[in-house]
Amino acid sequence: MPVSEDILKRVKKLREDIAHHNHRYYVLNQPLISDYEYDMLMKELSSIERRYPEIITEDSPTQRIGEKPVDGFPPVQHEPPMLSLDNTYAEEEVVAFHNRVKKRVADPSWTVELKIDGVAVSLIYTDFVLVRASTRGNGRVGDDITKNIKTIRSIPLRLLTRDSCLRNIEVRGEVFIPKKAFRDLNRERKEKGLPLFVNPRNAAAGSLKLLDPKETARRRLDIFVHTVPLPVEGVDSHFSILSRLNKAGLKTNLETRYCPTLNYVLKYRKKWEERRKELPYEVDGIVIKVDSYRHQQTLGRTEKSPRWAIAYKYQAEQMRTRVIDIVSQVGRTGIITPVAILESVFLSGSTVSRATLHNADEIARKDIRIGDMVFIEKGGEVIPEVIKSIPELRTGKEKKFEIPETCPVCESKIVRYEGEVAYRCINAGCPAQVKGRIRHFSLRNAMDIEGLGEKLVSLLVDTELIRNYADLYYLKKDDLLSLERMAEKSVNNLLNAIQKSKTVNFNRVLFALGIKDVGYGTAKVLAEHFCRMERLEQAGEDELTGIPEIGPVVADSIIKFFSEPDNRMILKRLRAAGVNMGKETEPVSRRPLQGKRFVLTGTLSKYSRDEATRLIESLGARVSSSLSGKTDFLVAGESPGSKYRKAEDLGVKILREEEFIEMIDAV
Ligand code: IVH
Repeated sequence: MPVSEDILKRVKKLREDIAHHNHRYYVLNQPLISDYEYDMLMKELSSIERRYPEIITEDSPTQRIGEKPVDGFPPVQHEPPMLSLDNTYAEEEVVAFHNRVKKRVADPSWTVELKIDGVAVSLIYTDFVLVRASTRGNGRVGDDITKNIKTIRSIPLRLLTRDSCLRNIEVRGEVFIPKKAFRDLNRERKEKGLPLFVNPRNAAAGSLKLLDPKETARRRLDIFVHTVPLPVEGVDSHFSILSRLNKAGLKTNLETRYCPTLNYVLKYRKKWEERRKELPYEVDGIVIKVDSYRHQQTLGRTEKSPRWAIAYKYQAEQMRTRVIDIVSQVGRTGIITPVAILESVFLSGSTVSRATLHNADEIARKDIRIGDMVFIEKGGEVIPEVIKSIPELRTGKEKKFEIPETCPVCESKIVRYEGEVAYRCINAGCPAQVKGRIRHFSLRNAMDIEGLGEKLVSLLVDTELIRNYADLYYLKKDDLLSLERMAEKSVNNLLNAIQKSKTVNFNRVLFALGIKDVGYGTAKVLAEHFCRMERLEQAGEDELTGIPEIGPVVADSIIKFFSEPDNRMILKRLRAAGVNMGKETEPVSRRPLQGKRFVLTGTLSKYSRDEATRLIESLGARVSSSLSGKTDFLVAGESPGSKYRKAEDLGVKILREEEFIEMIDAV
């Protein structure tokens, strides 16, 4: 049957569009459409070409595996080629894949894995030793990145077993940057004024291609091994080979499951659709693989992808929307954060109408204007951010945004200190800063004043009942009763909560003060060292920097804080009100957790891993990386890993972050 004119026209248009978007994305790194929209164009073209194979041309985008490898790293041949995966967003296509497989092999079973959003790499072990690592490149030729790969701690340089079938083996996997490491990396880059990475995948890819392996080592990259490209003697099941690899010290994903039927596969996908947010790394779908290597060989491959696997992807986490306005938000330290007001869109489970633009440099770098169409993304953060503008879609009516010369809240001058990215309102009395400081003071891990939320703080400041956090302790019942919507009961509750806060531990009081650069962990260190406020107030730079955790920048912030007359007055009033200013006891080296063994999992919100480890060790306990029957406590932060389940199995006491903080506060 001849192919109709309409179809030929559509195919031509699709190929042109895809080639155009491909160039924008891969070559210019300036996409005009989201990955999801791009995948949809590709899908449409592939499906037409599948129906009419005679119209496939050499230059059709479906015939391309990838782009040329980048110069700078020696080329490496891949044999067999590193294929891509067929992918879909629709359940019926998974069912069709399942049926296709069943036509060719009698009784297939499946391995189902998380699809890690990272960078594909190949690792070659000869005589159990890692001899070469390379990127995928165009699938046939990649780049030798052995030196950079070796900096990844979770990759064994020598396999741990003598499993003879693993003596000479190539494994392939996904290098990724965990969500937390990504956030820290971008925070650090922001502080240094360097351009931010758009997403964890780009950060991982960029990190593997750094010329200095030392820098790569700092990026906290990680890997999951997910493929053995050549059959392994004596093992037919992909799932079993993964567990052999795991035993040999290679990191495989422990969420991988063996599924006898499609039903299990679909349940697995559903389970992770919601729960993937809790994982410490980005996942963009699941991968369904026929488990038996024999079956895989029967099914074979196309030019581009194996016929025995399919990626069943989750909806893209990026959306396109329009910037209606850009406003300046003033934080508790006076930093001005430009925020985009957006046409509402649904993104990763919630409706988004605001997104951060970070700072003026970022707006300039991304060239984001009021009226622009932009991409927004959640990227592991709760607050979405604007990723890119799409200048091609401008009408000419868009307006550039300028940081205002005066503070939008108090109208005092806005300044930018030399070497700083941020603009600041330098009026410490600015109502926005005052409110921010009081709100911080009342937070749960600070003074923990229940009921004192953002709205109430705002009301108390606007009605001039308080001007700083010390004033909270001098609030009168009648004043509060005169406020709108404050009934007797809520007033009593608030006053009780304020009263109760006077006895929180000293380290929390220190944190609550909101001293620049003094987070929860640093406050704890300071409280341990100085024991009471007065001694800290009098500390000079030498004494402060003599504490291993305190550097000159933090020391400077502390000294500045205590030299401000306003702060001294506030402290006096806090003391007079009876707020805990520490104990008179001299610091003694105490080891109340002597002999205890801790293991950490997941992300803690108040401490970095290093901070938590130091803290635990400073109390006499040991921190180890693996769980065993000898472990006393597992501290489980957000998105705990497989250790959580193991601890449950072993009956190890699990401490949530709050419980952990309570414990160390108490000892
Ligand atoms: S298997 C021949 N398993 O997704 C099949 N790939 O979009 C080889 N990916 O290039 C891939 N997680 O880099 C496989 N659990 C997983 C994966 C995975 C992420 C990547 C892989 C591949 C890309 C295809």
